[in-house]
Amino acid sequence: MKDKKLIDINTAVKLLKDNEVVAIPTETVYGLAACIDRPSAIEKIFHLKQRPYFDPLIVHVSSIAMAKKYCRNWSSSHEILAKKFWPGPLTMILDKNELIDPTITSGLDSVGIRMPHHPLTQELIERLDTPLAAPSANIFKKTSPTKIIHILKDFEQAPYILDGGDSEVGIESTICQVFTDKILIYRPGKITASEIKKALEDSIEVEYAQSPVAPGQLNEHYRPNIPITLTSFDKIEEVKKALKAKNISQWDITNDPYKTARILYHQFRVLSHQSDHIIISIDPELIKKDEWQGVGNRLKKAASSIKF
Ligand code: TXA
Ligand code: MG
Repeated sequence: MKDKKLIDINTAVKLLKDNEVVAIPTETVYGLAACIDRPSAIEKIFHLKQRPYFDPLIVHVSSIAMAKKYCRNWSSSHEILAKKFWPGPLTMILDKNELIDPTITSGLDSVGIRMPHHPLTQELIERLDTPLAAPSANIFKKTSPTKIIHILKDFEQAPYILDGGDSEVGIESTICQVFTDKILIYRPGKITASEIKKALEDSIEVEYAQSPVAPGQLNEHYRPNIPITLTSFDKIEEVKKALKAKNISQWDITNDPYKTARILYHQFRVLSHQSDHIIISIDPELIKKDEWQGVGNRLKKAASSIKF
């Protein structure tokens, strides 16, 4: 039955024009998409995800020209970053214009825009000739989907899904905002602070920061259905002893950050089916490194307890 939910691009175009919501493949994670000019479909995204209306959605475009159409104050830095990293896992927070419905941005004057790097989704947006608003296609606060099976399992009533295979990056995009004197990264991802700084020829400081207006970046996020303890290799035995759980899964992360990111959310799901507690061990010095910020951030938010 659920396979009927898997659709091709022609059907996706039709459904999206028809006020429907469709799960779309991107290189980071799957998104739950609606055309930005279809308010009832946008509402449906919040409803299906059980997402609070205060958490704004990202707008996905298929070209720089399309991005510029929906924002104000596009600067030379935006141009450089878009040319360097788009299509790709970088979301830029820009001043929005009146073409963006306030429901999408939770009433904020800014909008997060990115151009995803997936041929099907790029073609989809081009054919619609309208951007797609899309959060990750998971229930609010839960683990994002990187495979269609994740979406089929997570939703009681699965949405239509455009099957584009597994997500290659595996964690959500880097979110940044350009100011005159600095760039702030509100959510770390595959694209790092040093890569952004280098693209701008070291002309501006780039810092990781908490977004003052994005309550979507809650401390508890990305969580599977069972508790995770994040620890270091040398504390594993101590952690195990203290746990009451009978059936513990252990994952020692030693791989490179990109391979870890690619499998991260699938691992969360697999391990949570096998056990009643997950222990993840990693070198705490490693996750201080720039290229580990994305994975480190997801691990810390997914963990119910951190013992370094
Ligand atoms: O990789 C991604 O970014 C994926 C794929 C589907 O594109 N999307 C995604 O969307 O992760 P979502 O909604 O799960 O996360 C978007 C985050 C939220 O935490 C939200 O608070 C923040 O972006 N955000 C959106 N608009 C914002 C704005 N105007 N200012 C600050 N933060 C914003
Ligand atoms: Mg999300």
